[in-house]
Amino acid sequence: MAIRTIRAEGDEILKKKSREIEQIDDKIKELLEDMLETMHKYNGVGLAAVQVGILKRAIVIDLYDDKGSLKLINPVIIKQKGEQEVEEGCLSFPNKYAQLIRPQEVTVEALDENGKKVKIHGKGLLAQALCHEIDHLDGIVFVDKIIPGTMQYVEPNE
Ligand code: NI
Repeated sequence: MAIRTIRAEGDEILKKKSREIEQIDDKIKELLEDMLETMHKYNGVGLAAVQVGILKRAIVIDLYDDKGSLKLINPVIIKQKGEQEVEEGCLSFPNKYAQLIRPQEVTVEALDENGKKVKIHGKGLLAQALCHEIDHLDGIVFVDKIIPGTMQYVEPNE
């Protein structure tokens, strides 16, 4: 396991579309493990592979609740319902936060790290995190979608 470098605002890779993963090999499993470790180190609730410079459709999520972490390969939103106004940030945009509208509920289909098909139903924060990370796979970052005038810069260590 290793901490990987997080690509930050201004890095063109964040605007690129990630490719589907066709084969889940040891390299992909290691990538997912490293992503989880990297996300935990920076106290994030989600991370997409593109954020560590890998253009593959893989995301990890951890809401630090009793459900544990999620490692998802080729995730697709197949259903969404309602909307919620949320505050959002991103490990690639340190100390920046803004308001935006996300679906209130989503259903996502993906593969787990063993290649098994999984269906995740997320509400609230989980729906938000799934949408945020899946957006990354299409080169979309949260600042592209914010409610105008809501961007805040929060000084670190305050
Ligand atoms: Ni992000």
